[in-house]
Parts: sequence; structure tokens; C-alpha cells
Amino acid sequence: MLVDIITIFPQMFQGPFAESLIKRAVDKGLVRINIHNLRDFTHDRHRTVDDSPYGGGPGMVMKPGPIFEAVETIKGEGAADVILLTPAGDRFTQQIARDLAVKGRLTFICGHYEGVDERVREGLITRELSIGDYVMTGGELAAMVVVDAVVRLIPGVLGSAESLTEESFSSGLLEYPQYTRPEAFRGQRVPEVLLSGNHEEVARWRRDQAIRRTFLKRPDLLEKTHLTEQERRLVAGLREG
Ligand code: ADE
Repeated sequence: MLVDIITIFPQMFQGPFAESLIKRAVDKGLVRINIHNLRDFTHDRHRTVDDSPYGGGPGMVMKPGPIFEAVETIKGEGAADVILLTPAGDRFTQQIARDLAVKGRLTFICGHYEGVDERVREGLITRELSIGDYVMTGGELAAMVVVDAVVRLIPGVLGSAESLTEESFSSGLLEYPQYTRPEAFRGQRVPEVLLSGNHEEVARWRRDQAIRRTFLKRPDLLEKTHLTEQERRLVAGLREG
């Protein structure tokens, strides 16, 4: 996968992408991440990327010229999805991460100020994403979040030790409780079933715990999860208290 990120703060990306799984994915050649300074696509002495809004009002608007030039310059041959990070975008979810993980090429534009000129939206952007209902100082952190969640889904990025099959949101449920050594810690013991060696019982306990936890913390997720008849009865029981 080729990822291009267009930003006025290229330095912000040095930390997160220079560590951990993302760095490993880059080193393995599974993804290339190019960071582009939007100001490199300006032509005035002050390297201006924003201006005041037509019609008046507070704040500044990102100019269309530098953004168009940046996207057209880095585009080369291959077409890419062009994603704007903005609080007004679609809420980013694991399903969107899965959809993006199969693309060969993604271009991210980190929004700033009061927004971007509408002609950028109309002429360049194929998708707008928000990482949650809060406002950050810019789209940079949001781009890092999206790239992180997408890159880890690229085949080969996770080792078998970090398998994808049982994690939260793939099953539609939150994760079940996990324990590791020691067996007793500050008076609290690991649930007996996990020491039993009975894989079927362990699997049933985990699924049951995941459903209970999801019911308590994120009941909205249960609406979209496929449950067996028996599991639906469990949820009905939890509802009745
Ligand atoms: N820019 C500012 N806040 C944002 C958010 N919540 N998601 C995406 N981009 C943003």
C-alpha cells in the first residue's frame, strides 16, 4: 500500500510512524508512507496555505490551490482515494478500516482552521472521515489514527501472535477478560475455567463474558452482532437484570 499524507505539520508524523508495528510494516515493505508539506506547494514568499472566508466570519479557510497542486503532483500514475480528515466526516469505524485496508493507495489531507475551500471537497475528496465527536486542533492526529488502524489490517503486518481473528469489533463484541501469570495476584485468582484445559468450556466462557461486557459497556454493538438463540436468551436475561 502507498500512503501519502498532506499536512502543514510534517514533523508531527515522525514519532508515531517511527515506532512499533507501523515501522515494522514500513521496514518489511508492506506499506510506504510519504509525508508531504503542504507549504511546498505554495508559490508566494510567505508560503500561504489559508485565507479569510468570502462572506466574512471568523477563522481562516484552507486555500484550494496548494491542496490541488499537492494531490496532482503526488498522484503520478495511480489513482488514489483522497480522504479529508475533518470533524464533519463520517465516523471512522473498524468496517471502514477494513474497506480501506484492501486499497492499493490512500491519500490523506489533514484539515485545519475553519475548514477547506468547498472546491477541494467537490473536486478532489472522495471521502471525509472523523475519528470521533470532538474537535482537535487539526486532522494530523486523526490521520495517524486512521493509518494505524488500516495498516495493521494489511496481510503480513501482524504476526500470528497478534492475530486478528478474535479481537474486539471483528466479532462485533468487546473483548473478553484476559489473564496471565501469576495464578493469584493480590488475593485475586484467575477464573478456574481458564486453568481447566477444556478448550470448549474456555471458548464458551469467553463468548459469554464478551457478551456480558458488551451489554454493560456498549449495548449498541449488540444490535448488530449475530447471536445464537441461547446467546439471545442470555442478553434477554441481562436486560431483565
Ligand atoms: N480534525 C479536528 N478534529 C477532528 C476529528 N475529530 N476527526 C478528524 N479530523 C479532525
